[in-house]
Amino acid sequence: MTCLYSPSQNQRGSTMQSIRYFSSDPVPLEMHKARTVQKLNLAPIEDRKAAIEGAGGNTFLLRNKDIFLDMLSDSGVNAMSDLQVAAMARADDSYAGSESFFRMAEAVENMFGTRYLLPAHQGRAAEHILAQAFVKPKPDSTAIMNYHFTTTKALITFLGGKVEEIVIPEGLKVNSDHPFKGDMDLEKLAELTAEIGPENISFVRIEAGTNLIGGQPVSLGCLRAVSEFCHNHGLLFVFDASLLSDNLYFMAVRDPLCAGRELVDITQEIGQLADIIYFSARKLGCARGGAITTNRFDLYDQMREFVPLFEGFLTYGGMSVREIEAIAVGLNEALDFEVINQTPIFVAEFSRQLQARGIPVVTPPGGLGLHLDAKAFLPHLSQDRYPAGALAAAVFVAAGARGMERGTMSEQREPDGSERFAEMELLRLAIPKRVYTLSHITYVVDRLAWLWENRDLVGGLRYVEEPEVLRFFFGRLESDSDWMDRLVAAFRRDFGGSL
Ligand SMILES: Cc1ncc(COP(=O)(O)O)c(C=O)c1O
Repeated sequence: MTCLYSPSQNQRGSTMQSIRYFSSDPVPLEMHKARTVQKLNLAPIEDRKAAIEGAGGNTFLLRNKDIFLDMLSDSGVNAMSDLQVAAMARADDSYAGSESFFRMAEAVENMFGTRYLLPAHQGRAAEHILAQAFVKPKPDSTAIMNYHFTTTKALITFLGGKVEEIVIPEGLKVNSDHPFKGDMDLEKLAELTAEIGPENISFVRIEAGTNLIGGQPVSLGCLRAVSEFCHNHGLLFVFDASLLSDNLYFMAVRDPLCAGRELVDITQEIGQLADIIYFSARKLGCARGGAITTNRFDLYDQMREFVPLFEGFLTYGGMSVREIEAIAVGLNEALDFEVINQTPIFVAEFSRQLQARGIPVVTPPGGLGLHLDAKAFLPHLSQDRYPAGALAAAVFVAAGARGMERGTMSEQREPDGSERFAEMELLRLAIPKRVYTLSHITYVVDRLAWLWENRDLVGGLRYVEEPEVLRFFFGRLESDSDWMDRLVAAFRRDFGGSL
């Protein structure tokens, strides 16, 4: 008998991890059942090609009706639990003083032990408030981070600040066996602080589950060290907890400092280490919203005025009270190992199946989704032909699955207009929580295996409309040859009349 996911010595076991198989190969097993479903449609490949061309080669501009498997993001599209849906029915609808807000505040306090809560309509709205409060429009105002997220950096630079990224060198290697590739390089933190001067550092930000470099986690040891450094140097330590649930899973199974501990004990420690925690509840709370939390009244006070100015009153912050209720439950559920292990084990299985076929992926597999290495998948495309964007378009044509480019297209140009080439060219196929099944993954693996065989056919993209800010969201591109036609012809040759 075999068991795919043997409980590590760190882990307090879980139902799924204890399941052994008699004759089948072990598979990740969903520990939930679907009770409301949405019908899917897989259009013929010719229609898929027409749809992506109509969307300017940009998967963000596709319409959902043309998509079979939407693996763009897990943001706001995770499946909600029955308890979340039930909680929405008791939403306390009032402009000010809503009880729903206090229930969310209680859930946040239970998670992080923090007293003050500022609601915001989503993660980037929280980032906007942070940037308004702490980024100074002076030449050297710098936010130091393990790695940037697109909206975080765009908001900081929009308000005149700079961003420095100092993830450990392993973090920028596509393939590594480092368990915490999202950790910050502490030596560089010390060097940069000495170089820039603490007075010019707006804050030090650690992002859990680093989004742009493969959903790689941060260790508790790193958080402790960064916290100590910040407090010794009078720096503000900001923690982006948007992707904390996956990070928490990796801490529980990989981090000796978390061995045998309850998840809530780990999150409460994080709450003590950071000065400010913020999150996209579209991710962490499995509903739609965001928030900033802190234990320090002075910091709360510095940020508070921006909530009514940009978001809404202090007890809803631009969120619907129904969503606030769902977030409160979602945060409690993010402390359940059986809930948070689902995405990482599906990503691991997805990755295992692709690696078995020799398809290049980020290793170790992280959270959030499967990350294909587009540089290795399409080595004939230089970075100025946007290999990760081209791969996203090709995967949509081949499989009807929509992923997100996480490479040069997602970068901003340098102030002089030149391209800033991304460290990694990744195509992310996100796995929204509890939405897709193993057969969906198996189907995508099959189509990716076909695309891998036919990779030479895939050509590049070029911008025809390129917005200055966050160009990947709504910029339009075209193929730089007739490669999509040739891809469709090859598909028809190999699959006949198949969808
Ligand atoms: C790490 C991280 N921070 C911030 C955000 C922004 O959150 P939102 O999409 O809710 O604005 C995201 C969203 O993907 C994220 O992954």
